[in-house]
This record gives sequence, structure tokens and C-alpha cells, in this order.
Amino acid sequence: MRKPVMAGNWKMNKTRDEALQFIYTINQSLPTSTEVESIIFAPEIFLRCLVKRQGNELKIGAQNIHYADSGEFTGELSPVMAKTTGVTHVLIGHNERRKYANETDESVNLKVQAAFKHDLIPVLCCGETEFEYDNNTTEESLKRQITIALNGVQKSNVENLIIAYEPVWAIGTGKRATSEVANNEAKFIRSIVASLYDVQTSEKVRILYGGSVSTDTVTGYISQSDIDGCLVGKASLDPASFIQLVKACL
Ligand code: PGA
Repeated sequence: MRKPVMAGNWKMNKTRDEALQFIYTINQSLPTSTEVESIIFAPEIFLRCLVKRQGNELKIGAQNIHYADSGEFTGELSPVMAKTTGVTHVLIGHNERRKYANETDESVNLKVQAAFKHDLIPVLCCGETEFEYDNNTTEESLKRQITIALNGVQKSNVENLIIAYEPVWAIGTGKRATSEVANNEAKFIRSIVASLYDVQTSEKVRILYGGSVSTDTVTGYISQSDIDGCLVGKASLDPASFIQLVKACL
């Protein structure tokens, strides 16, 4: 049995006051973390103050890390620094990072390794572009992304990995993959992990769907055999909505 995960990606939203207000509001209402893992991926500047105030049932994650421990990389957050804030998770290779910060499959691979090296759980994002979707090359693209991202990653680490399947055309667009299509791609991703490692390992990896998930559509995804939760942008910004998304996993 894989424990469900509900993850909110705030992206570049909220003031400090809004972020704190959110945490105070949800702290009392989240189900226990033995039933569902609730994670908020917050902007770097808020990480420490959110970690200090998070309740027992919430985890805080960073939206990105650099792959190097330290060095001449102005404006970057090293995995060592992320770890000292107290976060437990980190998003790796979100499409907006690939699109606006030129992240490649290769840099994603280095970041996945850096996360595990520093005992952070990576939420590895992958997904096909609209062009790939239209040209029926979704699975080729997913296979490439996952295979490169996991190059050199130990099996014992992969068991703790979370993968977010997010079709690029569905992120922030209001368009979304149906739950059946998303489940098929989740199964496909699991089969790639099985071919790289083994079936047992692949059965432990949690796979999330992301892309315009809302409180109305979340249940359809959660009820699928191979989808273990969701990565949610817009609908995670409102505390009541986030609580509803988490409770949908119960
Ligand atoms: P969205 O974002 O839910 O607003 O589409 C999802 C994501 O970027 O992870």
C-alpha cells in the first residue's frame, strides 16, 4: 500500500503574511500524516519561517535546488542550504524551471542525485509537451525524461522517490488529462521504473498527477490504481481548497 500524497505548489505567489496565515489556518484541519502526506512547496524566502510554524501533519518543500553543494552560482539555493531550513522535500524539474530556467534532463538528473545525497525527497516532475501529445510521442518523451533523471540513482533511494506526471499542456491552462489517460501514463512511468530497477521497487514509487487539478476533479485521479496523489498549483493557494484536496485522499 502506497501512502497518498497531496502536494501544493505555490510557485511565485503569496506574501509572508499570506503564507503564515495559510499555515495557521490549515494546521488544525489536516488529517494525520499516517493517512496522507500533505506537502507545501513554498518560495525559498518563506521556507524557514514555514518550517518553524508547520504543524505535525504538514511537510514543507523547496521548489528547486542547485546540484552543487556550494560554489560560484549567484542567486541559487544549494541542497545543503535547503536542508538547513528544515524542509524534507524538493521539486525537481518542474516544467516552469525547464521552460524559464533552461533546465535539461541532465541537470534534472544531477539535482535528483543531489537531493538524495542530502536526504531530501525529490518530487521528480515529468510530462509531455503539447507537440509531443499531438504527435503521439508522449511515452517516448516520458521514457527519455525518467531514464535520464534516474541515471546513477541507487535502488534504495528510488524506493522513496515521488514522481509527478504533469502534461505540459495541462499546467495552469485549465485543460487536463482525463483520470483514465493520466492513470495509463502513471502505469507507463511505473513500468519504466520497473525496467530500470525491478517491479518491487517500482511498486513503492509514488506517482502523482498534476495539471489543472481542482477540488472538483481530484477524486477522479485519486481513485485510479496507479495515481497516488496530486501536485496542485492554483487550487492549492486557498487554505480551504487545499484542505479539501488533502481530505479527498482519505
Ligand atoms: P496547476 O499547476 O494546478 O495550476 O495547473 C500544477 C503545477 O504546476 O504543478
